[in-house]
Amino acid sequence: MVLLSTFLFDWCQWLQHTPLATTINESVWLFPLIEGSHILALPISVGMIVMFDLRLLGLVTGTKVTNQFLRWSKFGFAVMLITGVFLFITQADKAYGNPFFRTKMLLLLLLGINAAVYQLMFYPKMSQWDLAGKTPAGARFCAGLSLIVWVGVIVCGRTMAYEF
Ligand code: HEM
Repeated sequence: MVLLSTFLFDWCQWLQHTPLATTINESVWLFPLIEGSHILALPISVGMIVMFDLRLLGLVTGTKVTNQFLRWSKFGFAVMLITGVFLFITQADKAYGNPFFRTKMLLLLLLGINAAVYQLMFYPKMSQWDLAGKTPAGARFCAGLSLIVWVGVIVCGRTMAYEF
């Protein structure tokens, strides 16, 4: 365990001194541009996912609109992921030791598992149960969990930024 921790910390320090990380850190406009995109992509990714979750919970209606939301959320999520990695490499050693960053990564992993469960167990027959207006309890559970965990990711992201 200690060995893994030392390896990861050394890797973070190496990452932070790569030419790409140094270029972003030394540029006047690159870091704000990346951080701005990270924040602006938030409503496109998480906002759209929230709308989809609310529909599964029966709190909003409209199949066509929410399916389109999901398409946009994939684009937003890709932007968040790419800009997040760029932000990380510029301050990898600080982020590595930060409990909020670690929690955020764990929550993102949990969200990935939750999304995979939904995709494998409920999505293949969605057109049937959705048309009948009978959302399975398991799909509702995935939606509720997703809503709660996304709030956690945002809170951790913001709190972590305060600490840097
Ligand atoms: C995909 C879902 C994600 C969401 C919803 C999210 C959300 C946030 C939020 C709300 C902030 C605070 C920004 C501010 O107010 O300054 C933030 C900052 C940050 N995020 Fe993310 N993030 C995501 C993914 C990632 C990933 C995948 C990484 C890295 C691998 C990452 C790394 C960072 C870093 C390093 C900061 C701090 C930037 C600073 O110095 O201010 N994020 N994130």
